[in-house]
Amino acid sequence: MEGLRFCYSFALSNYVGLVRFGRNLALMNLAGKRLVIFGCGYVGSSLARTALAAGAQVEAVTRNTEKAAALRAEGLTSVVTAELASADWHRQIAPGADFVVNCVSASAPGIEGYRQSYVAGQKSILVWAQTGQIPVGTLIYTSSTSVYPHGDGAVVDELADSGGGTPTGAIIRESEIILERASALACRRWFILRLAGIYGPGRHHLLDQLRAGAIALSGSGGPHLNLIYRDDIVSAIMAGLVAPAVFGNETFNVTDGHPARRAEVGSWLAAQVGVASPVFDGTSGTRRGGVPTPDRLISSKKIQEMLGWQPQFPDYQVGYRAILGRP
Ligand SMILES: NC(=O)c1ccc[n+]([C@@H]2O[C@H](COP(=O)([O-])OP(=O)(O)OC[C@H]3O[C@@H](n4cnc5c(N)ncnc54)[C@H](OP(=O)(O)O)[C@@H]3O)[C@@H](O)[C@H]2O)c1
Repeated sequence: MEGLRFCYSFALSNYVGLVRFGRNLALMNLAGKRLVIFGCGYVGSSLARTALAAGAQVEAVTRNTEKAAALRAEGLTSVVTAELASADWHRQIAPGADFVVNCVSASAPGIEGYRQSYVAGQKSILVWAQTGQIPVGTLIYTSSTSVYPHGDGAVVDELADSGGGTPTGAIIRESEIILERASALACRRWFILRLAGIYGPGRHHLLDQLRAGAIALSGSGGPHLNLIYRDDIVSAIMAGLVAPAVFGNETFNVTDGHPARRAEVGSWLAAQVGVASPVFDGTSGTRRGGVPTPDRLISSKKIQEMLGWQPQFPDYQVGYRAILGRP
């Protein structure tokens, strides 16, 4: 028993060291591993590049033929153009992948688009995974903090109610439950990563608005923004993929850990680009779906403590400085 405990803590401390040290993702080695990505968009494409650089064999499913051609040119061995919710791709992607990452977004705006990608898409992946007779090694799903209904400045960890703050948040929670109930014949283990608001190179809506001369922004400046930089999502996914076998079937919030009020972020960004601080018009409709930004503080301590993951962009100032090319 004592020997087992020693082996466990030895493996864990080495792993934590690797991931912390391995914040430089170039040090990760996925040689001989096969990764299938569903939804090669902003996050999925970045993950594909990182995994290829780490030596993995990377395959993908996307609906977009131009994107498929670009991904093949980047070195993906197989890119299938198909609707995820259909079974059209099931025979074209070999079973038994070491790693699967589901990072699709809604197939179209509105409830039906959410159901198609998140619910029907998740079911389709699990049917494919199970019919192959060899389970997927690790399946990661990039969910969303929109599963939380909280506001009023609440601190929210993974034990909080996750029934969905909006109709679309409830659909995303439904897709999580489908994965939580997955058969061991479909995947040996899963991780759900509940992502905060994504930003990074080429995705910086607030900055774009200010640069375009917006002075009045919709909504309130009071709520905290919970953000996560694209590259830190990729490193969190990688931390899950290479996590020791003692970890599995866990849900983690993934956020930079330093929420800041919209007004503070807006004023700081305005100063960076030399325009006047924005004012907020107090109307609703600041988030996708026309829902006001909820005020809460999402905690990502669990993934930091369990998997040793740490963001390289720990607050909006570090992230936006990188985007703006400032030291
Ligand atoms: N945006 C945020 O702030 C945010 C916050 C929390 C969580 N998330 C989650 O984070 C993940 C990654 O987001 P992202 O920004 O990388 O999304 P994205 O850029 O929109 O990329 C998603 C990809 O999914 C593909 N896709 C959508 N529906 C599909 C379907 N039915 N069948 C096949 N492919 C489909 C799209 O393919 P096509 O190229 O064919 O259109 C697109 O390439 C998503 O799961 C999203 O829900 C996002």
